[in-house]
Amino acid sequence: MSCSLRPVERAHRGRVEALVRATGLFRPSEAETAVEVLDESLAGEDDYRWLGAFDGDTLAGFVCWGPTPGTEGTYDLYWLVVDPARHGQGIGTQLLSDVERRLRTDDGRLIVTETSSRADYEPTRAFYEHRGYTRAATIPGYYTPGDDLVIYSKDL
Ligand SMILES: CC(C)(COP(=O)(O)OP(=O)(O)OC[C@H]1O[C@@H](n2cnc3c(N)ncnc32)[C@H](O)[C@@H]1OP(=O)(O)O)[C@@H](O)C(=O)NCCC(=O)NCCS
Repeated sequence: MSCSLRPVERAHRGRVEALVRATGLFRPSEAETAVEVLDESLAGEDDYRWLGAFDGDTLAGFVCWGPTPGTEGTYDLYWLVVDPARHGQGIGTQLLSDVERRLRTDDGRLIVTETSSRADYEPTRAFYEHRGYTRAATIPGYYTPGDDLVIYSKDL
């Protein structure tokens, strides 16, 4: 069942933080960062754009992306998070596809996203790889010794 896609609003701050925490993948400080970035966007900052996937009134997932400073037509995908109880139902694909569609109509050329080499990110890496993203670069030991930064990109 597909969700309806619409803006994330102030009322969803707590839910955004809870969803980031619920993945079990991110540090607590990253959940706080997500809410801070949402606040900046709601205050009119255009560097970060948000879209929520809603099941009725419930935020089931969200995506946050924005233009990469100093580039022409390159965009960073900062967050893509789906409620773990709803993984595998197509919500992440729905959100990602909609961002790509928006970027194509907005002179977007390249989309870049960063993830980790950790084993618990294997489903995340598979998700991107199955959706046309290629592993563009790796920085060994970036996060911690043995935990590499893995950068994916997709030519739109
Ligand atoms: C990655 C993520 C956004 C995918 O969202 P989703 O709604 O589960 O994805 P979809 O249902 O659209 O697609 C399922 C695909 O995702 C992959 N996947 C990733 N995690 C999964 C999970 N826990 N359960 C089922 N499928 C998962 C599967 O490999 C599947 O791939 P396939 O269709 O090519 O076989 C979601 O799993 C998530 O929030 N993960 C934690 C946060 C994260 O890693 N975000 C990305 C970096 S910020």
